[in-house]
Amino acid sequence: MATLSDQPNHYGLVTRTLHWGMAALFAAQFTSAAAHWALPRENALREALWGYHGNLGATLFLLVLLRGVWGLMNIQRRPRNSGTIGQAAVAGHVVLYALMVIVPAVRLLAAAGSTRGFSYFGIPVFPARETAIAWTQVAVEWHGEMGWILGLVIVGHIAMAIVWHQLVKRDDVLTRMT
Ligand code: HEM
Ligand code: HEM
Repeated sequence: MATLSDQPNHYGLVTRTLHWGMAALFAAQFTSAAAHWALPRENALREALWGYHGNLGATLFLLVLLRGVWGLMNIQRRPRNSGTIGQAAVAGHVVLYALMVIVPAVRLLAAAGSTRGFSYFGIPVFPARETAIAWTQVAVEWHGEMGWILGLVIVGHIAMAIVWHQLVKRDDVLTRMT
């Protein structure tokens, strides 16, 4: 059990699997978003990449809820961050969690209130409505923008881990997640 749970000097197997597994899935999710933004509608690569955006986004939503619950269960045992930079790191992680929940949640909410509905890997979750619920469609205006903000925060997070901790400070912050 010890290696599954987090320890004060190292994240456990569950946290590490969720962290790196979700990092790979986020890379795929942003690839589909970038293709959607950059390529013309009729482009075959854009269509292929866009085909998984909703299913993968909903999967990431479920995974972040699981990860949040596991993180809270382990909060007393997790590696601690001290000092001002440490406090900033904690704040950065809270922002990451907030956006990882809000970005897919607003899109799923919009799908629930829309005339198209939503199916998860072919299983109907939200049936298509005859008329859309107007207020559910408002938040969706922000889905793409908030998604890109999440992408920027992730870039900052990776830069802090690799450039600041690994190359400048040369501390154990990266190795405790590997
Ligand atoms: C963490 C999960 C998600 C991330 C990071 C994400 C990211 C993004 C980004 C960055 C865009 C903008 C693309 C552009 O500028 O063309 C976008 C658009 C879109 N996403 Fe997601 N998405 C996620 C989950 C979802 C889910 C769960 C759904 C469907 C239920 C969805 C449906 C859409 C749709 C239909 C668009 C195009 C229209 C719009 O901007 O609202 N996404 N997404
Ligand atoms: C190359 C990519 C990445 C690297 C090198 C990296 C590195 C790290 C490191 C070293 C930590 C531990 C920090 C500490 O203990 O203070 C960490 C934690 C964390 N990372 Fe990343 N990360 C990467 C990608 C991502 C992505 C894509 C996300 C989310 C979208 C993410 C979200 C988080 C969160 C929320 C934490 C806090 C611990 C947790 O609850 O999992 N990381 N990361």
